[in-house]
Amino acid sequence: MASSRLLFSLCLLFVKVLALAKAQQPAAQPVLLYYNCTGKGSYTTNSTYQANLNQLLTSIYTNTEIKNGFYNFSNGQDADTVYSIALCRPDISPGACRSCIRNASDSLLRLCPNFVEAIGGLDDCMVRYTNRSIFNLLEEGPRFWVYDDRVNVSDVVGFNQSRMTLLDRLRDEAAAGNSGYKYAMDQIAAPNFQTIYALVQCTPDLSTSECRDCLYTASGVIPECFCVCIFLRARRKQKGEKEEEEEAKGNF
Ligand SMILES: *[C@@H]1O[C@H](CO)[C@@H](O)[C@H](O)[C@H]1NC(C)=O
Ligand SMILES: *[C@@H]1O[C@H](CO)[C@@H](O)[C@H](O)[C@H]1NC(C)=O
Ligand SMILES: *[C@@H]1O[C@H](CO)[C@@H](O)[C@H](O)[C@H]1NC(C)=O
Ligand SMILES: *[C@@H]1O[C@H](CO)[C@@H](O)[C@H](O)[C@H]1NC(C)=O
Ligand SMILES: *[C@@H]1O[C@H](CO)[C@@H](O)[C@H](O)[C@H]1NC(C)=O
Ligand SMILES: *[C@@H]1O[C@H](CO)[C@@H](O)[C@H](O)[C@H]1NC(C)=O
Ligand SMILES: *[C@@H]1O[C@H](CO)[C@@H](O)[C@H](O)[C@H]1NC(C)=O
Repeated sequence: MASSRLLFSLCLLFVKVLALAKAQQPAAQPVLLYYNCTGKGSYTTNSTYQANLNQLLTSIYTNTEIKNGFYNFSNGQDADTVYSIALCRPDISPGACRSCIRNASDSLLRLCPNFVEAIGGLDDCMVRYTNRSIFNLLEEGPRFWVYDDRVNVSDVVGFNQSRMTLLDRLRDEAAAGNSGYKYAMDQIAAPNFQTIYALVQCTPDLSTSECRDCLYTASGVIPECFCVCIFLRARRKQKGEKEEEEEAKGNF
């Protein structure tokens, strides 16, 4: 294992701006909101690794025992072992969680054919698989941005202040969670009668301090997205996929 650290780290941060219009009809085939086919090598079609991977993902989205939306599974022997974690938003039902994980898994396998490692997610869940043990391992990337260009912020400084006030509070609340859940969500009034909704979440295997650090980093880079978003606006529109209310989503 390359890393000597003994923690796996993942935190999600969603900041929602009250949208002006409702999302468009979702595409018939689920499209991931964000994903990365990590360049860590490939497996051959019909290999044992592929069979183990398919079996593993199926065992996650058919598992009815887990209720807290966090799955940490592995399958296979030696070099053919596949490791996977999946995480759902805390505010959806176990059934909706499984459905989301199924869609995300199917999409990842389709979008990242033969990649031994991949990560991706939809609005409600995130799925990651790889051939190296990621349990108790701190990972800083990849990072993703997802944003909404239907709502423009006129008072950037005021909006930013409200957002940071909210995120500072939620960070400590989420970090103080237990081994089943580490999340917090709330809303705050922003200038010009806007409302900012936020959800922050860590995988529950993180310690309080790691969760807090991870969310601190995540909220710190949101202002960067303000620039990135402007440049990527055209591209995001082209994709024609389900529009989301998230203004920014950081994934570490
Ligand atoms: C994962 O797969 C890649 C590509 O096949 C390989 O180079 C790497 O050694 C494997 N890692 C482990 C931990 O088996
Ligand atoms: C994989 O297996 C399927 C079903 O047995 C077969 O149709 C297909 O040709 C195989 N593909 C490769 C690349 O071996
Ligand atoms: C999963 O995909 C199906 C078919 O595209 C869709 O009807 C369903 O709403 C999706 N579920 C989730 C949770 O994304
Ligand atoms: C995928 O993640 C890797 C590792 O973090 C990063 O180097 C690469 O740029 C990412 N690829 C894309 C398309 O974002
Ligand atoms: C937001 O600003 C962009 C660029 O100035 C503009 O094209 C877009 O129409 C605006 N959107 C809304 C909802 O006002
Ligand atoms: C937003 O707030 C953060 C933290 O207080 C600060 O670092 C950043 O410069 C602010 N950005 C804007 C555009 O005001
Ligand atoms: C994740 O799975 C590994 C391997 O089975 C196990 O050692 C570890 O305790 C699990 N962690 C959590 C938080 O479930």
